[in-house]
Amino acid sequence: MTRTLGKGQNSPNETARVKPMPITAPPPGPDLVDPFGRRITYLRLSVTDRCDFRCIYCMDPDQRFASRDLTLGPAELLAVTRAFVGLGVRKVRLTGGEPLVRPDLIELLSAIHALPGLAELVLTTNGSQLAARAHAIRAAGVRRINISLDTLNPERFRLLTRNGDLDRVLAGIDAAIAAGFDRIKLNTVILGERNGDEILDLVRFALNKGINISFIEEMPLGEVAYRPTTHYSSEQIRARIASRFTLIPTTETTGGPARYYRIPDSPTRVGFISPHSHNFCADCNRVRVTSEGQLLLCLGREASLDLRAMLRNHPGDDARLRQAIREALRMKPEGHSFANGMPTVMGRQMNRIGG
Ligand code: GTP
Ligand code: 5AD
Ligand code: SF4
Repeated sequence: MTRTLGKGQNSPNETARVKPMPITAPPPGPDLVDPFGRRITYLRLSVTDRCDFRCIYCMDPDQRFASRDLTLGPAELLAVTRAFVGLGVRKVRLTGGEPLVRPDLIELLSAIHALPGLAELVLTTNGSQLAARAHAIRAAGVRRINISLDTLNPERFRLLTRNGDLDRVLAGIDAAIAAGFDRIKLNTVILGERNGDEILDLVRFALNKGINISFIEEMPLGEVAYRPTTHYSSEQIRARIASRFTLIPTTETTGGPARYYRIPDSPTRVGFISPHSHNFCADCNRVRVTSEGQLLLCLGREASLDLRAMLRNHPGDDARLRQAIREALRMKPEGHSFANGMPTVMGRQMNRIGG
């Protein structure tokens, strides 16, 4: 049986008190079901394409961002989210770029959290501004938070992010732990030649903090100057971890793509997100909306619908918006097309999609 991951993983001593969250009941109300019978219950909403980092696998150093008038404003983001929740979406994850660069983020989170029918509001961040805002984000109703961390070496961190300060992110992780999120997950993209030697150190770091960690296979989204020349599969990473730690497979899930393992006597879960080696498209439960209001039916395919045009041409017409979303679901592809590290047909970099 599939279980949702438990609460209270902020301290290794809390294992005994971990209470599993209830299994999510099938959502009531009008469902979004695609032609392959997959029910959409998870919206990934990118609230900005801007970011204070320039991670080498995500964007180029001279990346241009969308002008503000092309980016959805708070009322538009809320209208889109309300439409999805009205159609049976139960989990909303805010992504970026870096969501914390939006000055109105806390108000936006609070407004989304108040939507009737929403079960889970979550956030993915690079952690750089979390030290100052973790408490406010938690207070706004975010229960789980995912924080990117690819290296523990400050110099490498600066190179991989092209300007990032590791200490700020580490302070952000500590602030998130202090803020009492139900669960914190680190996201680590292993780029063979750049950070493959830190796999065990990163697992140890997560263990010491009592938080989760997911290792992600790099995806060739959009044209960026850097792509790793060696690819580490999740299986290679898992084998490396298994050389030092006992990994016990578990069917626990967050409703995301990671497959999780437990380490005995620790609340830490080690996850693997393996778009190349373990395709999870058959279980896809999610769609994305970009910060420019494009509804993307698949991370690695072009099928999309311009929700911004609809919002701006028919302001306040929620029924029309919901109907358009429902119809767009017919375009949801069966799966992505990442092939041997080649860039996808899509011109969009990760910062415009939100992962
Ligand atoms: P939870 O499971 O809710 O904790 O979140 P998550 O791991 O799905 O979300 P997060 O934003 O932390 O994303 C982690 C990685 O998973 C990113 O690299 C995403 O691009 C990737 N990811 C999320 N959903 C999909 C998907 O549908 N397809 C693919 N290929 N990758 C995905
Ligand atoms: N491949 C895999 N993961 C990526 N991310 C950003 N770009 C890529 C890529 N090309 C990850 C970030 C962040 C998450 C939202 O997506 O590291 O943790
Ligand atoms: Fe910013 Fe995330 Fe892209 Fe890095 S991966 S540049 S943190 S949006």
